[in-house]
Amino acid sequence: EISFFFPTECTLAVIKPDTSEELREEILGEIRAAGFTISWQKEMVLTREMAEEFYKQHRDKPFFSYLVDYMCRGPCTMLILSKENAVEEWRKMMGPADPSKAKETAPGSLRARFAKDVLENTVHGSSSSQHAQEKIQLLFGEISSESQVISTGDDDE
Ligand code: PPS
Repeated sequence: EISFFFPTECTLAVIKPDTSEELREEILGEIRAAGFTISWQKEMVLTREMAEEFYKQHRDKPFFSYLVDYMCRGPCTMLILSKENAVEEWRKMMGPADPSKAKETAPGSLRARFAKDVLENTVHGSSSSQHAQEKIQLLFGEISSESQVISTGDDDE
């Protein structure tokens, strides 16, 4: 017999503030229907410091402070999604950050259907596996440091 092993990848997904309960449930349903496993889920309101750290790669962009303000405005749903090729698959499902571009190039995507504009664009997803690991560490510190201990095989208990 031949057996195949498809390694799963993790990504960080965020449902941004101001998303209604109804839309949130709709998005969670679509995530599951697309074959992602929601490995971890929590609601949280980001502090300014966390939001600044979260978006630190955009620190010098003119929209940085708007982005940080927006992300702190209310509770976000933080999700760790697992699937083969999860980073790319979730980016594809979201569509481009700007909904006017999303409507043209990816009309079925979440941002094409639900985003208001490039700032209030409903969802976030890590752009690489490396970024996903960093953001998961930032938002879910305890669980990712546990798994780090397991994976490094640290014997100093
Ligand atoms: S970039 O410059 O290519 O890295 O930017 P991009 O990947 O398109 O977007 C990164 C995040 O910044 C937000 N963004 C903006 N917010 C407000 N105003 C403007 N003009 C703007 N342009 C980009 C965008 O929504 C992205 O947020 P996330 O949460 O990463 O999707």
